[in-house]
Amino acid sequence: MDIRRAGNRIKELVGQIEYHNRKYYVEDNPVISDYEFDILLKELAGLEARFPELATPDSPTRRVGGAPIKEFRPVRHVSPMLSLDNTYNKGDLSEFDGRIRRLVPDARFDYFVELKIDGIAASLTYEGGKLTVAATRGDGLTGDDITHNARTIRSIPLSIRNIPESLSHTRFHVRGEIFLPLKSFEKINDERLSGGLEPFANPRNAAGGSLKQLDPGITAKRGLDFFAYQLVPEDAGRPASASMFESQSKSMEALEEMGFKVNKLHKTCPDIGCVVDFCNDWEDKRAELPYEIDGMVIKVDDLRLQVRLGSTGKSPRWAISYKFPAKQATTRLNDIIASVGRTGAVTPVASLEPVRIGGVTVSRAALYNADELERLDINVGDIVLVERGGEVIPKVVKVVEKKTPGVFKLPDNCPSCGGGLVREEGEAATRCINTSCPVQFQKNVEHYASRGAMNIEGLGPKVIDLLIGAGLIGDFADLYKLKTDDLVPLERMGKKSADNLVDNIEQSKGRPLSRLYYGLGIRHVGGRSAEILAARFNSLDDLLKAEVSELEAINEIGPVMARAIHDFFREGHNINVINKLKAAGITNSEERKAPEAHRNFAGKTFVFTGAISLPRADAEDMVKSRGGKVSSSVSRKTDYVVAGADPGSKYSNAKKLGVEIISEDEFRNMLS
Ligand code: IVH
Repeated sequence: MDIRRAGNRIKELVGQIEYHNRKYYVEDNPVISDYEFDILLKELAGLEARFPELATPDSPTRRVGGAPIKEFRPVRHVSPMLSLDNTYNKGDLSEFDGRIRRLVPDARFDYFVELKIDGIAASLTYEGGKLTVAATRGDGLTGDDITHNARTIRSIPLSIRNIPESLSHTRFHVRGEIFLPLKSFEKINDERLSGGLEPFANPRNAAGGSLKQLDPGITAKRGLDFFAYQLVPEDAGRPASASMFESQSKSMEALEEMGFKVNKLHKTCPDIGCVVDFCNDWEDKRAELPYEIDGMVIKVDDLRLQVRLGSTGKSPRWAISYKFPAKQATTRLNDIIASVGRTGAVTPVASLEPVRIGGVTVSRAALYNADELERLDINVGDIVLVERGGEVIPKVVKVVEKKTPGVFKLPDNCPSCGGGLVREEGEAATRCINTSCPVQFQKNVEHYASRGAMNIEGLGPKVIDLLIGAGLIGDFADLYKLKTDDLVPLERMGKKSADNLVDNIEQSKGRPLSRLYYGLGIRHVGGRSAEILAARFNSLDDLLKAEVSELEAINEIGPVMARAIHDFFREGHNINVINKLKAAGITNSEERKAPEAHRNFAGKTFVFTGAISLPRADAEDMVKSRGGKVSSSVSRKTDYVVAGADPGSKYSNAKKLGVEIISEDEFRNMLS
């Protein structure tokens, strides 16, 4: 393909990809499958690799993260990003209304009421319809440049479709909130906990932490989202007068038209009574939302009136936020229960005197691990402050009244099997290491059968408990031996449901390989890591034999996970289960296998050294998607060393060992 045709195709692909991005991330209405989307993205990445001069900084391939930055540059906002006056008292809303009516007695106006999203305020700058800069609010006048991270947020348009004529020749800024949906928040905290890291206290902190990353590759995996709530057009380097859009409601419509995600749960109110009712509604219903809100924002809708009202030093006179009461309460800690999880981790859980928090009765709270007990200096009988944050399970914030001296000690033995507990170096969790511990076994089977893994319908905790109790299964491979006649005698199991269950178990044999890798329950291996493993190891036998160094060489697989995978397949009990699975005829195959024609690097190992123009991760992905391997060190087994500018010791090692050294250009030629 010549450069002109490549340029045209790139344009076409960028258009299509951004269209599907918007469908998926902004409109929540995808029209193609993830697989088809990935094919478009891969084609674009391939063309950009061959014609790097055609790759633009706003290419959708950047959504997975470009090169890390060294530091956050300061960005001065064109007009201050003000904060809002806030109140916890609904009576203050009438005062706010009275104040405005006194200031502009002649005006008739509506209020525009929005949800107050609990995230991090950001300002996005567009020039010629393209995203050029993204910055945090900072102190209101100057924020941090987070463009590299903002580009990874899929609901932030990199270039604007349907740009209104009035904005097409001017620079403008879109302000809004970057936030972390609760689902992403839970996932991040699960991963942090299983990796022995402190969980984030709430989605807002997790969003802030994600934006503070210098490496956008990390941010890209966090699942951040963005709601736009303000449009600030510029006029010769200064904020334009308010005449461009007449009201907040009209600018929200314009933002939506341009492809931004705006929160639809707003209301236009003719008077403050209507505002208070709407605030009450959401105070009750906030728990139903898939993201956290901490209150409501009430704005005068008319933008010209906003200008007339102006602002005091730090906040506008035309807006106020009504904050919901904190989701905390004090209660007595009745007991601390040690519970065993699937990986054998023994977790302390607080059993509380039931208390109402934000409309929900709470009687349990997370205490995470022994370090957390120490930190809280907590014991049974103490009066504690409990908070319902974004997490599924509330947590204990602090002891407010110490009633029992000393810190609660977790048991030395597993509460399920009585086996000894071990705390490994550098780990926060205490674990039961008995591979036949009954609770762990039960949870392992539950995990194997779960939706994200082998998805065996009808095989829930109750049935698994019955199967174990009746001695029908000793590990999850035994599921494949079950016959209808074995199941019928079980409690509440008729012939028909027994038949269905046997059928469903049989069907699970054909699930994609990534599901099986996940279902095995290898420590630290979540759904995404399992997909990465399946893309690299096309059969269970290959994964079984993988050495730690081979696993570590895979992008996104760290040393801890690599070691865990390696050790898992060297453990006698696990080897036995795997042999049984194979004998049962597990035929899992990977649905996302790269097409054969592109697997021209199969069996070849590459090592990169020195600076190349492609992001290293992208180059590595290109090798892997063609069936090759990437290693971090040169050995006799290395097939090619790709040497960029200023190569390091790998270059001299390659020379010594007689390994073929190729330039970046030669590497690109091999790609095509
Ligand atoms: S309007 C001058 N609208 O709340 C108007 N803010 O203290 C500026 N926020 O820093 C803000 N949701 O981070 C506005 N729908 C919304 C909001 C919202 C959340 C945050 C924003 C701001 C803080 C106000």
